[in-house]
Amino acid sequence: MQKLKIRGGNPLRGDARISGAKNAALPILCAALLTPETLTLHNVPRLNDIGTMLKLLAQMGVVTSRNEETVTLTASSLGNLVAPYDLVKTMRASILALGPLVARFGEAKVSLPGGCAIGARPVDLHIKGLEAMGAIITIDAGYINAKAARLKGARIFMDTVTVTGTENLMMAAALAEGTTVLENSAREPEVVDLAECLIKMGAKISGHGSDTITIEGVKSLHGAEHAVMPDRIETGTFLAAVTAAGGKVRLTNAQPNTLDAVIEKLRDAGATIDSTANEITIAMSGRPLSINVRTAPYTAFPTDMQAQFIALNTIANGTAVVTETIFENRFMHVQELVRLGAKIDIDGKSAVVHGMEKLTGATVMATDLRASACLVIAGLVAQGETIVDRIYHLDRGYDHIEKKLVALGADIERID
Ligand code: UD1
Repeated sequence: MQKLKIRGGNPLRGDARISGAKNAALPILCAALLTPETLTLHNVPRLNDIGTMLKLLAQMGVVTSRNEETVTLTASSLGNLVAPYDLVKTMRASILALGPLVARFGEAKVSLPGGCAIGARPVDLHIKGLEAMGAIITIDAGYINAKAARLKGARIFMDTVTVTGTENLMMAAALAEGTTVLENSAREPEVVDLAECLIKMGAKISGHGSDTITIEGVKSLHGAEHAVMPDRIETGTFLAAVTAAGGKVRLTNAQPNTLDAVIEKLRDAGATIDSTANEITIAMSGRPLSINVRTAPYTAFPTDMQAQFIALNTIANGTAVVTETIFENRFMHVQELVRLGAKIDIDGKSAVVHGMEKLTGATVMATDLRASACLVIAGLVAQGETIVDRIYHLDRGYDHIEKKLVALGADIERID
């Protein structure tokens, strides 16, 4: 199993190019299921989760090809309409195949994802929404079986804001008969990016980016070409790393206007941040100030940045309260940070982080994707050597993170 060996203490300086967004690319890859024509995607990040999604689509019969960051997908006819447990268990986003399959082919069989390290994560709202559109859904032997002659437009209220739920239902509604209104929709930029790709494919969608999305169903969609938006969580992770480790870094191919909540907090921590439409420059010297954060759906502070901000707070001046409101078990990184000398108390949904002058290197274990990023940031500031074990989580969601950090002056090595 691969590990990262990090010798902390170096400031970060230079330029890093941000990759395409994992959480936008995954639903957009599934959108290829909605048309027999070719979908060409650019700025697709090189990640294990993308590889898993391509494998899932290929085993259904989608013809895929990949050249660097460009991927083409043609779903002219499919051999099977099944997302098997083996693939779904490694990547929950496989559930995004459900809506497109039932909308275009009238049936789908997708494994129930089950829980994961950060919480129970049910998919009841995906299922309820499809049922409201007329799908007959049964759960059998761990699989969701969906059938529908043709989905019908419906008014659907989701009582919790769900990102992939909104995406699944938006894709399904694109081919339904009549108009669908999705109320209490997720407003995340990745939902907007998917909507924009679907519109290029001929879908009639309005209101994306707000909490009410209206989709007027069409009979068929066609091929299109789309560049995936930049990854705001990768961007935020680099910004948090510079705020913790100090230095000056320019992030290119970024989309700063998707990061307002994060940038605001880092300024409060003491960082100087300037941005243009697609670049962000961050400079930081000295010890950061502690910053309280509370996660919530977009436009508020993202849960996918919570762990990195806990890492930042471990060496900040003061005490911070970090509150997680989206997932019930998303503090697995805390015990690992404690191994590096961090002082953190968990109180229900909040972590109280008492900033320390320093952390000291040790061996720690990554438990999920963003927890891994948090441990890398901690390793960058800890004195001595930190070994981060189980970095396959990191490779699921960060495109060559250690290479990018080494180019910025970090002392990191991948070891077996
Ligand atoms: C997506 C992101 C993930 C991010 C999360 C929250 C992708 C591939 N993943 O995950 O990185 O952390 O949004 O921003 O885009 N819920 C229900 N019933 C449902 C669906 C969700 O109760 O049917 C609950 C979940 O348990 C959770 C909350 O809604 O408490 C939000 O989850 P959701 O937005 O669905 O997360 P994902 O779309 O899985």
